[in-house]
Amino acid sequence: MNAEKLRSFLKNRLPPEINRLILHAAERAASQNLYLYLAGGMVRDFLLDKTPKDADLVLTANAILFGQKLFEKTPYKVTLHHRFNNLSADINGFKLDITSARSEIYPVPGKLPEVLEGDIRADLFRRDFKINAMAISLSPQDFGHLADPYNGLTDLKQGKLSVLHPKSFQDDPSRIWRALRYSERLGFSISGDTLPLLLRDAHLIPLIGSDRLWYEIECVFKEAKPENILLKAEETGVLRNSLPFAKADKWLADKFTEAREIYGENVSPEIYLCLLTARMDSPQADSLITRLHLGKHLSACLKDCQYLAEHREELDMAALSPSRLYSLLAKCTKEALQAFYVSADNPLVRKNLLLFHERLSAVKPYLKGADLIALGFAPGPNIKTILAELLNLKLDGKVSSRIDEIDYVKRRLADDQT
Ligand code: CTP
Repeated sequence: MNAEKLRSFLKNRLPPEINRLILHAAERAASQNLYLYLAGGMVRDFLLDKTPKDADLVLTANAILFGQKLFEKTPYKVTLHHRFNNLSADINGFKLDITSARSEIYPVPGKLPEVLEGDIRADLFRRDFKINAMAISLSPQDFGHLADPYNGLTDLKQGKLSVLHPKSFQDDPSRIWRALRYSERLGFSISGDTLPLLLRDAHLIPLIGSDRLWYEIECVFKEAKPENILLKAEETGVLRNSLPFAKADKWLADKFTEAREIYGENVSPEIYLCLLTARMDSPQADSLITRLHLGKHLSACLKDCQYLAEHREELDMAALSPSRLYSLLAKCTKEALQAFYVSADNPLVRKNLLLFHERLSAVKPYLKGADLIALGFAPGPNIKTILAELLNLKLDGKVSSRIDEIDYVKRRLADDQT
């Protein structure tokens, strides 16, 4: 490992402020006789010459005290995790973690670990895969030196993923999803020793907490081809143990691909999740919402998809009036409509959705509430009703100008007064 190669990686693969911060942190650590390392995914990405998504630093001392001083005069948001003696900084969207070198014991499978003091070797041993269990020294005396006590480099060269010990997935079943994700992202195989452990321990996935499970699935959706990971999850029983009613097959893979063709490479997790639930009934979708402890917006998207599916027959009608189409679709979230468009196999449903998206959704009456009051209506809930009537008339082409709308309102006022 050579110091120059590391310097050029930090300079060329990281945003300049992260590069500066890491080098500054290294100087500070050295001045206090502390050892600082790059660890985890960043080392893996360095060795593979890929751009890292975040940075993981390990200090052989209390990371919180060190990090607080490091970020003292910076504008970045810093979060302290006292339980783990860790600190996380958000540097213009780039996450930099500083952890205290530690080993861990896992009291109960799937629950958070308890933290013990430890050194870098022990710290690396607590990690998920050998390829993520390497560190690179940032200390001046051996800057760039690779610490690889578990032969991660060999795995990396052979393109395989293996856990460090047979209880790894039991310690943290969320690693099962991570295995599938890295395997797809890096094109690595799951090693002959590790695959049986994964299959053996897949039944422990229900022990993963809701938020962590959603985090893992969201990470899957952020990969380039999430469908390949879901297909592997189906094959290995991981999907069934995670979301009992979800199914990954050719239909789903085709729909995910089509979503990217239509909406671009960065399809939102909302759209992917709607597609994953597209073939569920309402109680099944509700149980998924509960299992993943989904927030308001995601739950609304899934519920809207269910609602749209319940109205599929009506949306499949050529004679549907524009005002009815509007009333069916206007209350739905954008992502539910986008997902339903992809999931709909019927051209007429798609045509109606497009009509709403391209034309109807932007239609507004010429008159506003204040105009109705000026024309003689009393303020109150009635105003909303008349505005809705005007919108429907405009959608159905029964009024086409401000004058038409004023005529209608005047007639309506006269009717109300008789
Ligand atoms: N890690 C672990 N077990 C987990 C989660 C994380 O051992 N369940 C360790 C791994 O060593 C990992 C590091 O913590 O490399 C950082 O985790 P994370 O940022 O989630 O992963 P990265 O390896 O950085 O991968 P990505 O590129 O997906 O961010």
